[in-house]
Amino acid sequence: MWTTVALLVFVAVCDVKAATTGVTFTNNAYLDEAMNVFLQWRRDETTVTMQLEVQTRGMVAIGFSPNGNMPGSDIFAGYVGDDGQPYFHDFYAEAQEHPVYDGDSNQNYYDVLATENDTHTIVCFTRRIVLCDSNDKTVNNGTNRVIWAWHADDPTDERSLLYHGATNRGSRSLQILYPRTEQALPDDVQTLELLNVNYSVPGNRHTTYLCRGIKIPDLGGKKHLIRWEPVIQPGNEGAVHHFVLYTCGQEPADLDAHDGQEGICYSTMPEEWYHCTITLLAWAIGGTVFDLPQNAGISVGDTNDPRFLMLETHYDNPDMRDDIVDSSGLRLYLTSTLRTNEVGVLQVAVDVGQSQKIPPGSASHTTVAHCYSECLQQGMEDASLTALNVFGAFPHAHLAGRTVNIRHVRGANELQAIFKDEFYDFNYQETVPLEEARQILPGDSILFECTYDTTDRNDMTYGGLATQNEMCMAWLLYYPRMDLARCESWPMSDWYLTSLSATSTEYSEDKQDFIATAPANLVNLTADEILSSGVTWTDELRAAFQRGETQAARYERCMDNSNNLVHGDGTRPAPPVIEFPWVSADECSGSDAVAANIAANLLMLVMAYIIMTVM
Ligand SMILES: *[C@@H]1O[C@H](CO)[C@@H](O)[C@H](O)[C@H]1NC(C)=O
Ligand SMILES: *[C@@H]1O[C@H](CO)[C@@H](O)[C@H](O)[C@H]1NC(C)=O
Ligand SMILES: *[C@@H]1O[C@H](CO)[C@@H](O)[C@H](O)[C@H]1NC(C)=O
Ligand SMILES: *[C@@H]1O[C@H](CO)[C@@H](O)[C@H](O)[C@H]1NC(C)=O
Repeated sequence: MWTTVALLVFVAVCDVKAATTGVTFTNNAYLDEAMNVFLQWRRDETTVTMQLEVQTRGMVAIGFSPNGNMPGSDIFAGYVGDDGQPYFHDFYAEAQEHPVYDGDSNQNYYDVLATENDTHTIVCFTRRIVLCDSNDKTVNNGTNRVIWAWHADDPTDERSLLYHGATNRGSRSLQILYPRTEQALPDDVQTLELLNVNYSVPGNRHTTYLCRGIKIPDLGGKKHLIRWEPVIQPGNEGAVHHFVLYTCGQEPADLDAHDGQEGICYSTMPEEWYHCTITLLAWAIGGTVFDLPQNAGISVGDTNDPRFLMLETHYDNPDMRDDIVDSSGLRLYLTSTLRTNEVGVLQVAVDVGQSQKIPPGSASHTTVAHCYSECLQQGMEDASLTALNVFGAFPHAHLAGRTVNIRHVRGANELQAIFKDEFYDFNYQETVPLEEARQILPGDSILFECTYDTTDRNDMTYGGLATQNEMCMAWLLYYPRMDLARCESWPMSDWYLTSLSATSTEYSEDKQDFIATAPANLVNLTADEILSSGVTWTDELRAAFQRGETQAARYERCMDNSNNLVHGDGTRPAPPVIEFPWVSADECSGSDAVAANIAANLLMLVMAYIIMTVM
């Protein structure tokens, strides 16, 4: 019965009445679509405190899962018994079956509390971020799969749980370790809604990219954009996959004529919009409101600021429904109370197209986008900057994406990643506010790596807009702003030709690609033509394609806001080798980890002692 007493002892630390006791949660999310399961949390240096509120008077449970399913999950369950006392337990699920009671080994949940009123049960606990017990899941820096379940009744035996049934359970992806305190808005804030208008999503295709032209209204002078949030038409939450808001290197001449026009992106949209390639901001499914740091804003409405925007909406319609009509979009918050720093957005990517080539049957293929030091340095020099402060990151890949990693290199040394997510989820993406702004200095370079799993695919995966194609694109939010907007590079295809047994190659103006000139059976063929005629994928061939990512000569796109080259002539040698890659400390082998375990166990002993003396 230690749990009962723990309630009395620790009530002040983890309390449902946060306001009166000083626990302030920094993040919250509904875990289910019905909005019955509400999670609030905050992180401290080594711990996370969570409060789960569920509309039930029975049992509630939350778990940390490797992939959204039960096996391998670390589960916390609690309820308030008929005796009015709270109960909670730590479980470990080995399979899709009743989880194993993990309470005797090392209770990882402490400062626990459970209460209920007429309608809701609320449980609250604190846990360490890093857990070194093999049955317990560390909270990741990147995306976490959180599972939840509840039951209308309490369990009859405190070591067993009631089966939640098919509906009272689920999973969702969450970024847990990045605080998102909504900031107070200045009094003069005004909003600008950029919405689609009753768009009938085509029922004959899985993926639709709709592009809409928007003339920015007269804002009455310079403003700072300080927050954005999605406005999703109720009912279309599953279909609206992402928005990217672009500005144009060259704006259409007649803005009024283009305002409110729409077309399929890069297909039926007006020619003039092909200049609209500079990302201003991006949102994707699962994301919520994004607040810029207090000292920074994105300039709009000034004389040199964009007067036209292109809103790209990605509709995902796997069931090919023909009844989806949508008016979703973005809401921007603007203020005249200007902040100290002008924000810029830098796109680091590989080209979106056939040049990104991912072999089938690969458990791990990494595409590498390299933002060369010369490009970054030139961009900084042109803007007379000695450093960039990166405060947010938005990595983007499609369905095969597993890990995304924004690496930071200075000279021979790699520094800690700007943002790394080893659990990337296509269905949950958002701009991540970094814990601390990261400084990019002249001479630094950035590598953006996307690692894919194509073991379930028989054909090549190429880069492209469709969900089944891939992308490897990251947007970095930083200040002060420079004109450099896109820093992209990707391997030249003669590398792939050589990997596919061509013994000599040349560039063909005709095909706008490299072709083989020997041996005879490959003459005049491009790498893609050879690939499409079918090749036998061996581990060796996959490895050759992988080496191309770091060893092939490259194309480079180092461009400013007006789509002019900032540096170079468009081609590059292979990226330099990083002599000293970043090695992350193993938090479970060091003395710190041992100390943390001892501390936690001591806490349990102290609690047990208190309990025994009280009882
Ligand atoms: C019960 O708790 C829930 C969740 O905190 C709250 O929304 C609801 O208003 C409470 N009901 C009563 C009657 O206090
Ligand atoms: C998470 O990021 C922090 C710094 O932001 C780092 O110290 C820590 O090692 C990372 N943890 C993991 C598991 O990568
Ligand atoms: C969109 O369609 C709805 C329902 O037909 C209609 O009420 C609304 O006025 C339309 N919105 C616009 C902006 O045309
Ligand atoms: C390759 O293309 C060139 C130019 O189009 C042509 O002259 C030549 O006959 C072709 N060779 C083969 C083997 O198809």
